[in-house]
This record gives sequence, structure tokens and C-alpha cells, in this order.
Amino acid sequence: MAKTGKLVGLVGWRGMVGSVLMERMLAEGDFDLIEPVFFSTSNAGGQAPAMAKNETRLKDAHDLAALSHCDIIITAQGGDYTSAVFQPLRQSGWKGHWIDAASTLRMAPDAVIVLDPVNLPVIQDALTKGGKNWIGGNCTVSCMLMGVGALYKAGLVEWMSTQTYQAASGGGAQHMRELLTQFGTLHAEVRALLDDPHSAILEIDRRISSAQRGFSSDETAHFGVPLGGSLIPWIDKDLGLGKSSDEPGWGTSREEWKGMAETNKILGQGEAYGTAAVPVDGFCVRVGTMRCHSQALTFKLKKDVPLADVEAMIAADNPWAKVVPNTREDTVRDLTPVAVTGTMTIPVGRIRKMAMGPQYLGAYTIGDQLLWGAAEPLRRTLRILLEH
Ligand code: HSE
Repeated sequence: MAKTGKLVGLVGWRGMVGSVLMERMLAEGDFDLIEPVFFSTSNAGGQAPAMAKNETRLKDAHDLAALSHCDIIITAQGGDYTSAVFQPLRQSGWKGHWIDAASTLRMAPDAVIVLDPVNLPVIQDALTKGGKNWIGGNCTVSCMLMGVGALYKAGLVEWMSTQTYQAASGGGAQHMRELLTQFGTLHAEVRALLDDPHSAILEIDRRISSAQRGFSSDETAHFGVPLGGSLIPWIDKDLGLGKSSDEPGWGTSREEWKGMAETNKILGQGEAYGTAAVPVDGFCVRVGTMRCHSQALTFKLKKDVPLADVEAMIAADNPWAKVVPNTREDTVRDLTPVAVTGTMTIPVGRIRKMAMGPQYLGAYTIGDQLLWGAAEPLRRTLRILLEH
């Protein structure tokens, strides 16, 4: 592809998602194709990173005039930044492309949730119609659709229930640090007992429970409650109670609500598209893993599809989805956060028919929350825009 020389503003490139994005852009040679402009919310005038070409000084990320010179802006700065800057920038007349990792604009009618291996036709249709706002999806939803999107594309899903096991990284860098600090505190609490092979396990257990319950507010500042050696069955805001399951607040957390809203929007279906939405619901749970989101899925399919066909569809859907045979050995080796972290692979395993009947399908999938769940769809959208 020819160099475009397009001026691409990068905001939030130093944070966790932003750093992963920079790594991926470097690995894929994206900087060869663009003229990057690095922005900062705190260090305007400072030295831009090594990828900079002509624009070697950091620009102020709140300077609308500087932002408006960009053909494309990519931000991983977060929702507060988007809320503060996006509307004023558009109101100032800027007509460039806005690519954003934050959820702020996701459900806006003129925004597309980008996940091109799943919804390239939706992206292309919006581009044709002059779309300018491209928003990365919720990490669990993106990783799920990268794994089992084939079943949706084939129109086979009557409904899906998902039970998630979401990593600390979904909260942010400080959350990952907090989890590890808690593990360290817990280990220190019982180190001597662990070193003694004759110590009583119930004494170890008692001390751990006591230490967890005794964590200070500083030690739980980010998750609010202990996560090390525990789990938290609520992620994001409490939406309260709404009137029906298709509006925010049916006793769901905001993370759970996103499952249905974003899955359907990514696929270009649901009310906004004049079609029926596929019901998606379940429970989202924070667990003490580092950066991979796992989820157990239950589908009701519209018809009985042989397992071999399901596996073949998933395997053929995109280069990253990988079917893991439903054996103990394959599962424990390939279908864990430790196996998947830092890779682009989206393994899908535990694929089996369930006791409820032949139309009920179970599956389990994992994705790196920072790669397919955050950074990768953004840089791929940049490529699509550069080629457009
Ligand atoms: N909301 C997700 C989580 C991360 O808390 O795990 C962002 O998609």
C-alpha cells in the first residue's frame, strides 16, 4: 500500500490500551503509512516518541485548533476526554475521522462499533454514507464475536447467554497492580506456614480470609473490595430497574447490558436497523486474572446443527478464531488466560450440545482484552480508512 501521509493524531498513547496500540502499530508497520502527531493531556511541548517524524513535540490534547489539523484522530485516552473534546471539536467544524477506544460514543446513531473481521460490511456501508465516528467495542463483546461471530453471521442464534470471567486489566492498569499487591499481601501473611509442610491448611485458610477482610481502603481503592483470592460478580455501573429487558436496567450491570446492545449494533441488526435484535444476557464477573477475558456461552440455535458443522464454521470464520477440541488435555493447555495472554488467537473450546436439547449449544472462549478487546480493532480501522 502506498504511503498516505495522512496526519493522524494520537491521544492516550501512553496509557495501557494506548501502549498496546503503539506496539501493534509498530509491529504492523502502520507508522510507515501515516504522519503521526502525538498529543498529551499533561506534557504538551514535551518530546514526542520515536515514531514521530516531522511533529517531534507533543501537542496539547485539548487544543481544538491543533486537533482539527488531523485527518484522523485515534484516542485511547478514556471517556472523560471524549466527553470533553469530541463535541466541541465537531462543533468547530472538524470533519476528520474519530477512532475511539472509549464507550462514550458507542451507541450514538452516527457511530459504528468497529470489529472488521465481524462487521466489515457495516463499516463499509457507513463509510459510503459519510460515517466519521468509529468506536471500539466492549472487550468481552469483541472477543466473543471474534470467536463465535460465525454463528451470528449464519443467522443461527436464537439467543445467547454469557457468563464472563473478566480480568483485572478491564478496570485499568491500577487495577492490575492492586490485584498483584493483594496477592503479595496474602502470600506474605502465610509464607511461614506454607514453608512448613506440616502446617494446618485450615489455619492458612483462616489467616487468608482474615487478611482479605482486613484489607485497608487503600488496598482495595480500585476494585472497592478484595479481588485477590475472591471474585466480584458485578462490573461497571448499576443500571437499576427498567421496564423491559431491551432497555438499560433489568437488574443488569452496565457491562451485562452492553452484551446485547453492542453485539447487535456490531452486527448491524436490531431496532436501529429495522430488524429484530438477538437476545444476549448473562452475568459479568471480575476474576483475579491479569488481562484475558474468558466467557462460557450458552446458545439456543434456531435449528439443530451438527457439532462438526459448528466447529467448521467457527474455524473458517477468520484467521484468529481457533477451535480447541473438547478434551480435557486440549482445554487445560489451550483455553486458559495464561495460554492466550499477549496473543491474537481467540480459542473457542468446550463446544458441545447441552442437556437441554440438540438446539442448545455450549462453548467457551477467551481473548486478550487489550488486543482484540481494545487496541486491534482501532488500528485495523485506521488501515481501512487509509485504504478508503
Ligand atoms: N468494561 C470492561 C471491563 C473493559 O471492565 O472488563 C472495557 O471494555
